[in-house]
Amino acid sequence: MDRIRIVGGNKLNGTIQISGAKNAALPLMIAGLLTEETLILDNVPRLADVAQLQRILGNHGVDITSVGKRPGDRAYQGQTLHISAANIIDTTAPYELVSRMRASFWVIAPLVARMREAKVSLPGGCAIGTRPVDLLMMALKKLGADISIDGGYVIASAPGGLRGATIDFPKVTVSGTHVALMAATLAKGTTVITNAACEPEIADVAACLNKMGAHVTGAGTPRIVVEGVEKLHGARHTVLPDRIEAGTYAMAVAMTGGEVQLAGARPELLQSALDVLVQAGAEISADTGGIRVARNGAGIHPVTVVTAPFPGFPTDLQAQLMALMVCAQGASEITETIFENRFMHVQELARFGARISLNGETARIEGIGQLRGAPVMATDLRASVSLVIAGLAAEGETMVNRVYHLDRGFERLEEKLKACGASIERISD
Ligand code: UD1
Repeated sequence: MDRIRIVGGNKLNGTIQISGAKNAALPLMIAGLLTEETLILDNVPRLADVAQLQRILGNHGVDITSVGKRPGDRAYQGQTLHISAANIIDTTAPYELVSRMRASFWVIAPLVARMREAKVSLPGGCAIGTRPVDLLMMALKKLGADISIDGGYVIASAPGGLRGATIDFPKVTVSGTHVALMAATLAKGTTVITNAACEPEIADVAACLNKMGAHVTGAGTPRIVVEGVEKLHGARHTVLPDRIEAGTYAMAVAMTGGEVQLAGARPELLQSALDVLVQAGAEISADTGGIRVARNGAGIHPVTVVTAPFPGFPTDLQAQLMALMVCAQGASEITETIFENRFMHVQELARFGARISLNGETARIEGIGQLRGAPVMATDLRASVSLVIAGLAAEGETMVNRVYHLDRGFERLEEKLKACGASIERISD
């Protein structure tokens, strides 16, 4: 299994092109199942999760072609996918494919909406808590689907088609909102989703669905209204930039010092994280080209942060912020409210010399100023990248073992960091 070797201590200086968002690309690809015409997606990141979803969609009979580079394309421009679900030949998503990535479970929504039946294995994904699918099933039931669980599979059927309904989520869920939204586009009548997730990736998917002929209003707010239509058609859509990738590199620059332009990043997608970075002592400025992050000389100040659904501080940046706070002068506190058990990076960060104590959902971090490089083990996706940025800021050599998770979510990580002066290389055994 690949490892990443880092020699820390170099400041980061230069430009990093931000890729398309994984968490938008995956549901957008799944939305391709809703129509027999071709959906073209631009700026799709080249990630292991995207490749895995291509295999899953292929198993349903979807043809996906990836278009090569064209004259004038910038480096890191992402790929263009042509997704054609003209003939869905299989409505089962098997365990072997779905167990590796939680989001692939969401195929259940377009399959039951368009084909009126689906059999999808219960999902896998990062080991960050129990991550149930009860609310996704609740949403489909409200829309009139019959749902049962048999042998580890969720079986959904709606012989007469789905019907619009009111879906009130008892807790904010990104996955539940995606599933309800996609399914409702082809339901008869009006669906109202309340307490919907407001994440920008939901609004991006809704924008694409509208280009495909859906009638969705309110996406990006807690109340989404969908007027069902009989059919959707082909469209072309560009995946929005990855706010988690942008936030991660911003934290890295705050840790190492230096000055980096995050090209293509959009500040309104990660304002809460930028506010925290400013509080911590980073200099942030934004223009139409992206976000500029710098820290020159100033120390890192401790902060108190609680993760929350958008527009709050994202749980997907919690591990990276913790790495930053280890370098702060003083004690900070981070409370995780979205996922239980999302503190697996704590014991790995401790190998760098970090002093972190856990009390329920809250981590208290005693800043130690200077980390020391260490051999560490990557656990889940965001935890893995927190170890990489800790390695960049640490004195001496860090070896990040088991980097499989990083490839699921960060496009050309080593290349992008190396171009800004980091000493980082991948070792393939
Ligand atoms: C998505 C993101 C993930 C991010 C998370 C929260 C993708 C591909 N993944 O994950 O990167 O960390 O949002 O911003 O977009 N829950 C239930 N029952 C359900 C569904 C969820 O109890 O049926 C709970 C979960 O266990 C969790 C909380 O709701 O505690 C939020 O989960 P959710 O927003 O659905 O996260 P994901 O969509 O899985």
